[in-house]
Amino acid sequence: MLRVDGLSVKYGAVPALHGVSLEVNEGELVTLIGANGAGKSTMLKAISGLVKYEGEIIFNGESFDNCGPRNVLTMGIAHCPEGRRVFPQLTVTENLLMGAYLRHDRNEVRRDIDAFFERFPRLGERRLQAAGTLSGGEQQMLAITRTMMSRPKLVLFDEPSLGLAPNLVEQTFRFILDIRAKGTTVLMVEQNAFAALELCDRSYLLASGKLVQHGTSSQMLSNPHIREAYLGG
Ligand SMILES: Nc1ncnc2c1ncn2[C@@H]1O[C@H](COP(=O)(O)OP(=O)(O)OP(=O)(O)O)[C@@H](O)[C@H]1O
Ligand SMILES: [Mg+2]
Repeated sequence: MLRVDGLSVKYGAVPALHGVSLEVNEGELVTLIGANGAGKSTMLKAISGLVKYEGEIIFNGESFDNCGPRNVLTMGIAHCPEGRRVFPQLTVTENLLMGAYLRHDRNEVRRDIDAFFERFPRLGERRLQAAGTLSGGEQQMLAITRTMMSRPKLVLFDEPSLGLAPNLVEQTFRFILDIRAKGTTVLMVEQNAFAALELCDRSYLLASGKLVQHGTSSQMLSNPHIREAYLGG
């Protein structure tokens, strides 16, 4: 579904990714792991058109060629960025409507919003409240649901569990598994390598902007180098 080929990104003169290639097949949940500054967020930003890159990104047979975020979204890729970026002044409902701004099927949009409120009653109860007044966990759920409002074919999650209490981390991961079960393909960045590998079908490990390992969840979990360096032995 997605093929990234020899991707390189620089911020000014400073390289952040060097010739990284990866693939995501339809229906998969793939994770991107690695230490701080490894280039994980940069990879997601390149795919969603937020940074310029060299190399090739091909989605369902079409090459992106730095076509920009709006075109990428139109093609069916949505990005849930690092750090729960909800619109704080807008209400919960307005945030969800923003996520659907490219859709024209108003009744279906309403139905999706109602379904999310049924799934997360706390968001439903707060539908008319400014998103900035929600708790961190509620804002994270809102950020995830807003991303899903475009009905993406592929969704990119950047550290969706960061800063959440353990029970909310579990709720977030359950929701992401649900999203995949309902047919959306997922590429997710996750700092917690163990959780990422437990959850995914396949994973890619980045270090200093380069791809160092990739494999199925069980290959990665049993790899001695990964166990030593990322899973605490
Ligand atoms: N806007 C920017 N301008 C300059 N350098 C940047 C910018 N964004 C990221 N970088 C640098 O690019 C490298 C990769 O950053 P990136 O955010 O992709 O890493 P990451 O793997 O997501 O890290 P983290 O786990 O901390 O989120 C880092 O060295 C970072 O300092
Ligand atoms: Mg990051």
